[in-house]
Amino acid sequence: MVKKMKNNGNKKQKMKAIIYTEYGPPEVLKLVEVDKPTPKRNEVLIRIYATTIGYGDIFGRNMRNISPGKFAMPLLFWLIAKISFGIRKPRNKILGSQFSGVIEAVGENVTPDMWKVGDQVFGYTSSSMKAYAEYIVLPEDKILSQKPANMSFEEAAVVPYGGIMALTLLRDKVNLKPGQKILINGASGGIGSAIVQLAKSHFDVNVTGVCGTPRLDFVKSLGADQVIDYTVEDFTESSETYDLIFGGLGRTPFSKVKNSLNPNGRYVLTSFKMRQVGQMLRTKLFGNKKVNCVVLPEKSEDLRALKELIEEGKLKAIIDKSFPFEQMAEAHRYVEEGRHKGHVVITVEPNNT
Ligand SMILES: NC(=O)c1ccc[n+]([C@@H]2O[C@H](COP(=O)([O-])OP(=O)(O)OC[C@H]3O[C@@H](n4cnc5c(N)ncnc54)[C@H](OP(=O)(O)O)[C@@H]3O)[C@@H](O)[C@H]2O)c1
Repeated sequence: MVKKMKNNGNKKQKMKAIIYTEYGPPEVLKLVEVDKPTPKRNEVLIRIYATTIGYGDIFGRNMRNISPGKFAMPLLFWLIAKISFGIRKPRNKILGSQFSGVIEAVGENVTPDMWKVGDQVFGYTSSSMKAYAEYIVLPEDKILSQKPANMSFEEAAVVPYGGIMALTLLRDKVNLKPGQKILINGASGGIGSAIVQLAKSHFDVNVTGVCGTPRLDFVKSLGADQVIDYTVEDFTESSETYDLIFGGLGRTPFSKVKNSLNPNGRYVLTSFKMRQVGQMLRTKLFGNKKVNCVVLPEKSEDLRALKELIEEGKLKAIIDKSFPFEQMAEAHRYVEEGRHKGHVVITVEPNNT
């Protein structure tokens, strides 16, 4: 069924959105009215109920201050990000890469078996952003799925990014065997917290999570068998060894990690510089301990696979705090100051989350 957008003559319908016209602190985020988008033939219009604050949203807001040195990826990736976000000021004024909501209208070429008006959905827009708004339009083949039946809209809005990254990493990039021992550096982060959960619930391995003091209990609650506080203990100085070490922000050099790897163990990095790429190439040829620098794909089928795992109880959303849409700047400050222990959710449509 195609719901026709109401035609108020030439007068455009409006929606609320959080926009930013310059890079900077949370205060650059402003609540304004903008034109409500209209779906094209192959697009769906989604009423957003909830969104969240991920690594990419904080990064996109701060872009101007992020030098190649601060960016945990090679220079070329930094250049691409800089150009695509906008060099002096943001090209795309609406941030927000994860959301949940309900389909309000579909374009006439949208496959009826895929999407219909009233579908409850969740999605990930990656660097295209635009979810800090009451409505978003997306081509039907973007990273969008029916919402997991066992999650509220608030819960569904916070899981896509970390969930997709963790699933594709564990399923496609590393070959874990039940009973193996792994260590997740950055276990309290967007990606790390989902890796801890899926590694335990779906891959049945022994997980040690590394994070800062305030989030130790959070990481335990995700199912980690052991937790290490990086402010107190350096895991590379312990005699414990692992089959796989996930590098988190990639700050621990391979030379230190090596002694903590079992023979044939792997140091897996999603944040890396060219130096680590060099180590990956070298360890491919020499030695039995390997460095893997991984770029994770972002595909709609992975979000659908994640939905199934969530419905099987294998991934939970742990929400620390909920903010109303109007308090987006406060919510960004709360996350940026590292006060959250779990996900922060933004309710865009408070009566339905
Ligand atoms: N390769 C790819 O395809 C790909 C895709 C997406 C993202 N990324 C990369 O992934 C990174 C973002 O990941 P994310 O979203 O999980 O980030 P995040 O949510 O900001 O989490 C950062 C984690 O690092 C931990 N941490 C901070 N300082 C630490 C230290 N000194 N020692 C050990 N752990 C420390 C934090 O622990 P506490 O909070 O407890 O201090 C937290 O767990 C970015 O670098 C991004 O470029 C790569």
